[in-house]
Amino acid sequence: MVKASAPGKLMLFGEHAVVYGKPCIVTAVDHRISASIEERKDKKIIINAPDVGIKNCEIDLNENLENQPKEVRFVFQAIKNFFDKYGISSGLEVTTKSEFSSRLGFGSSSAVTVATLKALSELFSIKMSNKEMFDLGYKTVLDVQGVGSGFDVAAAVYGETIYFRNKGEVIEKLKIDSLPLVVGYTGIKADTPTLVKNLAKKRELYKLIIDRIFEKIETIVENAKIFFSEKHFPALGEMMNFNHGLLNALGVSCKELEILVHTARSVGAYGAKLSGAGGGDCMIALVPEEKKEDVEKVINKYGKVIPAKVNAEGVRIENE
Ligand code: PMV
Repeated sequence: MVKASAPGKLMLFGEHAVVYGKPCIVTAVDHRISASIEERKDKKIIINAPDVGIKNCEIDLNENLENQPKEVRFVFQAIKNFFDKYGISSGLEVTTKSEFSSRLGFGSSSAVTVATLKALSELFSIKMSNKEMFDLGYKTVLDVQGVGSGFDVAAAVYGETIYFRNKGEVIEKLKIDSLPLVVGYTGIKADTPTLVKNLAKKRELYKLIIDRIFEKIETIVENAKIFFSEKHFPALGEMMNFNHGLLNALGVSCKELEILVHTARSVGAYGAKLSGAGGGDCMIALVPEEKKEDVEKVINKYGKVIPAKVNAEGVRIENE
């Protein structure tokens, strides 16, 4: 049996604009998803995902993706794409386990996809570079959900904190040894593909304005990249505030995110912004050490602090 795990992620800068070829900065978090896989003597492929209520689910790779239960689609498609690419056919027993809820927006789909691909490559002794794993993982995510920049797949594969651009054409590690973030959960599950599609519709009507906003977001990401290297937290906080304001202008924020963002700022955060598609999920605040408690207190009043360490390791084989 082979077990691999991949980290979840938090978007730091550049969401939405990254779907249109602009850069973003994403960090991997210390909440992981694992996939344990062993070969079966028969030709059956059985999936267990106890965290999402899936037990002994038998899949047929010749069936359509749409006929599979939602909870197993990424694993189904990852196995199918891996077998197609490397000409393999085998029975499998797959068990996935998550250290975080898929409701947080921490990138459970990309993490489970990448963990599955890594476990398969180890099981069948196929060497895959990080880029090959990213490409197959990104294809899998697009096959299942149709939209996405691939930044979450890159975070699951490479880990740490990366500058990502244009469907993975540029993936650069940023050197960061500490990032004093507080993560706040709104309690609302966001629907990323719908938010991305709605913004695309809005862009058809207001292309000039929205593309200008994307350009401004790009400038913020480029500045943030420099401030990261200088460990200039007050300026990074300011970049978060600018970025959040523009996301708000795009219409992807919501009341619950606004409350968390503004209360975090009002008790001393350097800056705060939504993280990810918006419409719920999580926000992040960059905070001076001496203000951490105050920020956590207000976030727990209106939402929930999610303990998370950033800069986590990328996909890896777990030795039992
Ligand atoms: O909602 P999340 O955490 O999966 O982030 C989505 C980020 C977007 O830029 C809106 C979409 C994407 O795939 O980049």
